[in-house]
Amino acid sequence: MSTDAEMAIYGKAAIYLRKPEKERIEAQSKPFDAKTACYVAHAKELYLKGTILSKDGGKVTVKVLDTQETVTVKEDDVTPMNPPKFDKIEDMAMMTHLNEASVLYNLKERYAAWMIYTYSGLFCATVNPYKWLPVYDQDVVAAYRGKKRMEAPPHIFSVSDNAYQSMLTDRENQSILITGESGAGKTVNTKRVIQYFATISVSGDKKKDTSKGSLEDQIIAANPLLEAYGNAKTVRNDNSSRFGKFIRIHFGTSGKLASADIETYLLEKSRVSFQLPDERGYHIFYQMMTNHKPELIEMTLITTNPYDFPMISQGQITVASIDDKEELVATDTAIDILGFVNEEKMGIYKLTGAVMHHGNMKFKQKQREEQAEPDGTEVADKIGYLLGLNSADMLKALCYPRVKVGNEFVTKGQTVPQVNNSVSALAKSIYERMFLWMVIRINQMLDTKQPRQFFIGVLDIAGFEIFDFNSMEQLCINFTNEKLQQFFNHHMFVLEQEEYKKEGIHWEFIDFGMDLAACIELIEKPMGIFSILEEECMFPKASDTTFKNKLYDQHLGKSNAFQKPKPAKGKAEAHFSLVHYAGTVDYNICGWLDKNKDPLNDSVIQLYQKSPVKLLALLYVPTGAEESGGGKKGGKKKGGSMQTVSSQFRENLGKLMTNLRSTHPHFVRCLIPNESKTPGLMENFLVIHQLRCNGVLEGIRICRKGFPSRILYADFKQRYKVLNASVIPEGQFIDNKKASEKLLGSIDVDHTQYKFGHTKVFFKAGLLGTLEEMRDEKLAALVTMTQALCRGFLMRREFVKMMERRQYNIRSFMNVKHWPWMKLYFKIKPLLKSAEAEKEMAQMKEDFAKCKEDLAKAEARKKELEEKMVSLLQEKNDLQLQVASESEGLVDAEERCEGLIKSKIQLEAKLKETSERLEDEEEINAELTAKKRKLEDECSELKKDIDDLELTLAKVEKEKHATENKV
Ligand SMILES: Nc1ncnc2c1ncn2[C@@H]1O[C@H](COP(=O)(O)OP(=O)(O)OP(=O)(O)O)[C@@H](O)[C@H]1O
Ligand SMILES: [Mg+2]
Repeated sequence: MSTDAEMAIYGKAAIYLRKPEKERIEAQSKPFDAKTACYVAHAKELYLKGTILSKDGGKVTVKVLDTQETVTVKEDDVTPMNPPKFDKIEDMAMMTHLNEASVLYNLKERYAAWMIYTYSGLFCATVNPYKWLPVYDQDVVAAYRGKKRMEAPPHIFSVSDNAYQSMLTDRENQSILITGESGAGKTVNTKRVIQYFATISVSGDKKKDTSKGSLEDQIIAANPLLEAYGNAKTVRNDNSSRFGKFIRIHFGTSGKLASADIETYLLEKSRVSFQLPDERGYHIFYQMMTNHKPELIEMTLITTNPYDFPMISQGQITVASIDDKEELVATDTAIDILGFVNEEKMGIYKLTGAVMHHGNMKFKQKQREEQAEPDGTEVADKIGYLLGLNSADMLKALCYPRVKVGNEFVTKGQTVPQVNNSVSALAKSIYERMFLWMVIRINQMLDTKQPRQFFIGVLDIAGFEIFDFNSMEQLCINFTNEKLQQFFNHHMFVLEQEEYKKEGIHWEFIDFGMDLAACIELIEKPMGIFSILEEECMFPKASDTTFKNKLYDQHLGKSNAFQKPKPAKGKAEAHFSLVHYAGTVDYNICGWLDKNKDPLNDSVIQLYQKSPVKLLALLYVPTGAEESGGGKKGGKKKGGSMQTVSSQFRENLGKLMTNLRSTHPHFVRCLIPNESKTPGLMENFLVIHQLRCNGVLEGIRICRKGFPSRILYADFKQRYKVLNASVIPEGQFIDNKKASEKLLGSIDVDHTQYKFGHTKVFFKAGLLGTLEEMRDEKLAALVTMTQALCRGFLMRREFVKMMERRQYNIRSFMNVKHWPWMKLYFKIKPLLKSAEAEKEMAQMKEDFAKCKEDLAKAEARKKELEEKMVSLLQEKNDLQLQVASESEGLVDAEERCEGLIKSKIQLEAKLKETSERLEDEEEINAELTAKKRKLEDECSELKKDIDDLELTLAKVEKEKHATENKV
C-alpha cells in the first residue's frame, strides 16, 4: 500500500481514493476475534454485524453490535466476518471470507468514506455518490497515467488507462462495458472515460478549418447534442439516457486519437408523445421553449409555454437540477463544433418544432359517418410550413389515405382515433429518424480518414431490470444484458477452464448456476420468441392472441426458461414468464405485433419524400423496392423486405456482440445506493439485488475459485530465481518447469495457492502479490550489498594505485622539472588532445548521419506495413460482421422455411381429407339425384293418371249433364 507521500500526486482527490496511512493502520489494528465476529441475517437490514455468544445444535445466539439485542438464528443465517486487515479492501476478490455480507459491508464502508470505486475481480464497481467529488480533475488524470491496476487506487481512470496500455502492448482492440440500473451513473462514467482518452491521447493532426472543433472537442461535443435529443427526466434520473450507445474511439499507430464512431440502440420514441406525471419529454423541446434563443421560437412558430403543447406537457415541464437555457447553448454550440452546416441546423430545429405541433392537430367526426375530418387547419398550416408540405394534401392523406389493394390503389376512410394514432406515429417517426440521422452525420464528421489501428469501445447501456409491467422494450434490454452476461461468463470462466484443460491442471467444472444458454436460445434462435413475433408480423390476420398461442404451442413445457406467469393479487397482467440469469420476469404481450410492425401512413410518407425541406426528404428516402412499386414502408429500411423493429434490434445486437468478441473487455458496474438520491446512504436490499443482477457476486466467487494469475515457467524462473537462487544449480542444465517447482517448494508460502501446468505456473488471487513483495525486498537487500562490496573493493584498489602514482609522479617531476624539452612538451600537450578529439567528433558525426538515415528508412517501412495491416484488419472485421449477420439470417430463413414446409404438409393432409369427403358427398349426391329422378318419374305417371281420371270425370260429368237434360 502506498504512503501518504506517494498519494500526494492525487492532490485533493487523495482522501477520496485511499485513506491516510494513520487511519488505515488504526482500522487494521482494531481488536478482533475471528471465532465470534460475524454477520447475522436480518429481516429489515438484510445483514447486521454481531458477536456470537453461543452455539447450540444448529442454532446460534448472536449479540447485534448496533442495538445490543440478542437474537437466536439458524446456523446458515450467520456468516463469518473478515479480519480488520481487509478493512475497506480495494479488490474484494482478495477477501478471505467471500460472502454476500462481506461484499456488501465493504462497499458500504467504502461508500461512507466517499470511496466510490471498488474492484471485484474483473469488475470495477462504482456507487453513485449523488454529489460531485473532486476525483475527476486534470491532476488525477495525470496521476493515473501509465499506472498498472494494482499500483493505483480503484478508479474509472485506472480502468481506462489499463485498457489503453493493453491496447498498445497487446495490440488488441479493447472495450469497456458499463452497465447498471437507471440513475446508477453509467453515463457519468462513460463521459469520464471519453474525457480521459481525449486528454491523454490528443490527436497530432489539428484541423485547419476553424469553424469546426478539433477531433477531441468533437468527440466530447457529440454528447450534449445526443443528450438533448435522447435524454429526459424520469422518476429515477433527471438526465436519464433513453437510448443505449457504443462509442468506439480509434487510435493511430502511435496511440494518438484517430477517429471515432457511435452506434445507438433502442431510442424510447414513445416518450415523444407520452410522459408519466413525474417525468418529462426529451430535453430539446423545453430547451427550445426557454426563449433563450428567440430566433428559434420565431423560426419554428412555437411558443414559450410548454402547456401550449399538450403532447409534451403531460408530466413535468421543468427539472430543478437542469438549467434548460444553459443546456440550449450547449446543444447549439455542439451542433456547430460537430460541423453541421447551417441548412442542416435549421432543418433540425424546424423538424423538432414540427414534431411539437403534431400533438395540436385536431380532428372531428363527420356527421352521421365514422369518417374523420380536420377540425381547423391552423396547426396543419404551421406543420405544412415547417415540413414544406401543402397542408391540405397532408390533411387529405391523413383522413383518406390511399392504400394498395392487389394492383390498385383505393382510398380508405379513417375514424378520428385512427387519424390521431397515425399523427402521433408520424411525429415519433420523424423524431426517431432525425435522431438516427444525427448519429450518422456525427459519425461522418468524426471519421477523419486518418490511419487507425485499434479501437477502444465504451458501451453505455441500460442494465437488467425487473418492473411490474414489462413489455417488448424491456425484453430487448434484458435480452441484451443476458447476452452481455454470457459474454462475461465466456470471457471469465469458459476461457479460464479451457486454459486449465489445455495446461493439464486438475479443475473441477463448476456449474455456476447461470444457465444462460437456455434463455438466450429461447429468445433468439429460429422458432424462438423473436422469430415467432417476426413471423406473426407477416400474417395480416395475426393478433396478440394468435401470437401468444403460438408461443405457448412452441415453448410451454418444452423449455424450462419459458413459463406461465403465476397470477397474484395486485400484479400487472402478464402473458408469459422468462427465467433470466438474474430472476424471472413476467412479460405482457399487448400490442407487440403493432409495435414491431411500426406502421406509418404511406400517403403522408409519400408527401414527405417530395418535400423541399431537404432533411425531411432525406429521412424518408425511398428504398429500391418502393420506387419500383410503392411498397410497404418509407425510410432507410434496407433490403426491400419488411424489416421489423425486433429484427433491426437483433441485427444491431449481433453486430455489437461481434464487435465485442473482437476486443479485450473491461467491466464496470454502476450501483444505485438508494431511491431518494441521498448522498452517502446505502440501502442494503437495493444494492445486494443489483449485485446479483449484474453478476458481481457470481464473478467474485468464480474468481476466487480459480487461479487468476499465471506466468510462463521461463519467465517465472528468470523473475523469481532471486527468491532462493541456491536451489537452481549454476552451470548445469535444468528444465524450467522443474526449476520453478523446486523454487516454489523451497520458499515460505502457502503451497495450496498455486498449481503447475504444462507451460505455466498458476496462482490463486493474491499470491503473486506476495511473491512480488518478497522479490522486491530480496532484490533491494542484494543490490545494496553488491553495490557496497564492489565500491569498497574498487576504492581500496584505487587508493593503493593512487598512492603509488603520486610517489612516482613526484619523483619523476623532480627529475625533469628543469629540462627545457619538458617545458616545451607541457606547452604542446593540450593541443594534441584537441586534435584527437576533433577526429573523434567527425567520426561520430558520420556514424550519427548513417544511423539517422537507417532509422528513417526503417520507420517509413514500418509505417507502410502498419497502414497495410490496418486496412487489412478493417477489411477482415467488415467481412466478419457481414458473414455473421448473413449466416444468422440464413439460419433463420431456413428454419422458417422448414416451418412452412411442415405447415404445407399439414395443409396437404387436410386437403386430402377434404377431397375424400367431397367424393363421398358427391356419391351421396348422385344417389339422391337418382332417387329424385325416380320420384319425379313416379310423380309424372301419377300426374298422368290424374289427368286421365280428370278426363274420365269430365266425360262422366258431361254424360251426367246430358242425362239430366234428357230427364
Ligand atoms: N460519479 C458520480 N459523481 C457525481 N455524481 C454522479 C456520479 N455518478 C452519477 N452521478 C449523479 O447521478 C445522476 C445519474 O447518473 P447517470 O445519468 O450517469 O445515470 P445512468 O446510469 O446513465 O442512468 P440512465 O440509465 O437513466 O441513463 C447524474 O446526473 C449525477 O447527478
Ligand atoms: Mg445514462
